[in-house]
Amino acid sequence: MKILLLGSGGREHALAWKIAQSPLTEKLYIAPGNAGTASVGENVAIKADDFDAIAGFVLDNGINMVVVGPEDPLVKGINDYFKNDARLASIPVIGPTKAAAQMEGSKDFAKQFMMRHGIPTAAYRTFTPETLEEGLEFLGTLKAPYVLKADGLCAGKGVLIVPTVEEARRELKEMLGGMFGGASSRVVIEEFMSGIECSVFVLTDGKHYKILPEAKDYKRVGEHDTGLNTGGMGSVSPVPFADKVWMGKVEERIIRPTVEGLAEEGLEYRGFIFFGLINVDGDPKVIEYNVRMGDPETETVMLRLKSDLVDLLLGVADGNLDTKTLEMDERSAVCVMLVSGGYPGHYEKGFPISGTEKVEDSIVFHAGTAFDAQGRTVTAGGRVIAVSSYGRDKAEALAKSFNGARMIEFEGKNFRSDIGADL
Ligand code: AMP
Ligand code: GLY
Repeated sequence: MKILLLGSGGREHALAWKIAQSPLTEKLYIAPGNAGTASVGENVAIKADDFDAIAGFVLDNGINMVVVGPEDPLVKGINDYFKNDARLASIPVIGPTKAAAQMEGSKDFAKQFMMRHGIPTAAYRTFTPETLEEGLEFLGTLKAPYVLKADGLCAGKGVLIVPTVEEARRELKEMLGGMFGGASSRVVIEEFMSGIECSVFVLTDGKHYKILPEAKDYKRVGEHDTGLNTGGMGSVSPVPFADKVWMGKVEERIIRPTVEGLAEEGLEYRGFIFFGLINVDGDPKVIEYNVRMGDPETETVMLRLKSDLVDLLLGVADGNLDTKTLEMDERSAVCVMLVSGGYPGHYEKGFPISGTEKVEDSIVFHAGTAFDAQGRTVTAGGRVIAVSSYGRDKAEALAKSFNGARMIEFEGKNFRSDIGADL
């Protein structure tokens, strides 16, 4: 098969690494990819949301399947774009339709969906500029801290958790006043939930589903979960509290009603579902849905997926995922993210990266990297490199990743040396 993977981050390098291992893969292209994906496939200089250019490439190169890494093309409707073009309609796009992608594209849509299907999540209300006064009043009925979420996509910046009602009221006014543009023209205010988070991933063909290995992500930039939120500074799989009993609850209360709910409502979904969960006194609750894999979770989840990913994706495309097997690797996997100095605030790009070739006990996934004019690999984003490792246990895997993290050099390099320490 000829496969086109869309995206350019660490998630995409990890997906590309796994897809390239499949005997079913004849040729893998990544658009636009990064300096790392070029080592497992062929990069194509097309943006992941340039649908016309993607369509042209797919037709010219006889692509048999398109795998979508990030949410943006899905929320913008790449699946529907293919379906509505007779020349492209038979080529499967792994990822939901535009309507179903609202599970990530609109927090209010996701909350209403959960309410309709009795899926456990935080109590909430949604406000618009017209109902600002009610929103300000509603905040007065809640207990601190206050959780405010822009309804639309904000590249991970749309959630505010503030300690006082005064601050919450000020933020609500700003958000509804256009702080995140159209994305915050509706704001979800919800109950604060306290617990440890866990990311659970499912592949679905719309009827059947398979549960992938779960992972925990480390979002804050600083050690011991301090400082600003980032895209993710590392991940660990498995997650100790996500045992058989807990995952049983997740499947019964969350995964099954979600997949059945999507089908009942005619929301066509063939792809990955990412359940952002929180463990509240032993009970899983949904923080959010994403319509794609997580980053940096994919950089550990792909290590723990023993089965052929392309075969599973064919099951998704053909609607016979129930006939496929999903085997997990019993080992632990961890990932430590190397980030640019200053990230998630302002940072410089273009610093040469060295030492990756010295790392032997880990898998080096590139995130924000590129080739410069001289062909050197340089930094090109906030999150630069994910150092992923296997281990008999978490400690062994972490030792390898930290060792690799120290060998790789670029100006301003930063990483968290407490990944996995809380579990
Ligand atoms: P989201 O973009 O919805 O994943 O939110 C970003 C982060 O905010 C989550 O990963 C949580 O750490 C935190 N968060 C979101 N909603 C809540 C909530 N209701 N209670 C506690 N923390 C939350
Ligand atoms: N690691 C969280 C995300 O991908 O949204």
